[in-house]
Amino acid sequence: MEDTLVLIKPDGLKNHLVGEIIKRYEQDALDIKNMKLVAPDEKLLSLHYEEHIGRDYFKDLMDFMLSGSLIALVLSGDNAIERVRAINGKTNPKEADKGTIRGDLAEDLRHNLVHGSDSKDSALRELALWF
Ligand code: PPS
Repeated sequence: MEDTLVLIKPDGLKNHLVGEIIKRYEQDALDIKNMKLVAPDEKLLSLHYEEHIGRDYFKDLMDFMLSGSLIALVLSGDNAIERVRAINGKTNPKEADKGTIRGDLAEDLRHNLVHGSDSKDSALRELALWF
């Protein structure tokens, strides 16, 4: 069994897509181990996205993530990290397959609805930050 962090980003809440997004993880039989509504501050987000500091999109990403509340989830299951990333689809919704959250529901690269940990090390680090 493996745990991974999912963040449902502010566009998910603003567009009333929280239920639809969580349904997709549950339909794949991932277990919800923890879940909370969060209004993160800049410090938490800077730690979460520390590997992206200095990238040209960093300010846009931070402004967007600070624009509203989000939902943080701990999802658990065999191979949960890869399964969540497959359900989420590619980072850019324009490249994401139909049937994925981003391919079906997301607007653009900034407003891409969800974050999922990308490795075991990231999952451990991110879960400790958010929970
Ligand atoms: S990934 O999936 O980690 O490989 O994605 P990556 O391309 O490295 O992007 C890292 C995160 O930055 C976000 N991003 C952006 N946000 C706003 N504007 C622009 N232009 C932009 N480009 C990338 C992207 O959504 C990733 O966020 P997370 O939360 O990790 O999915």
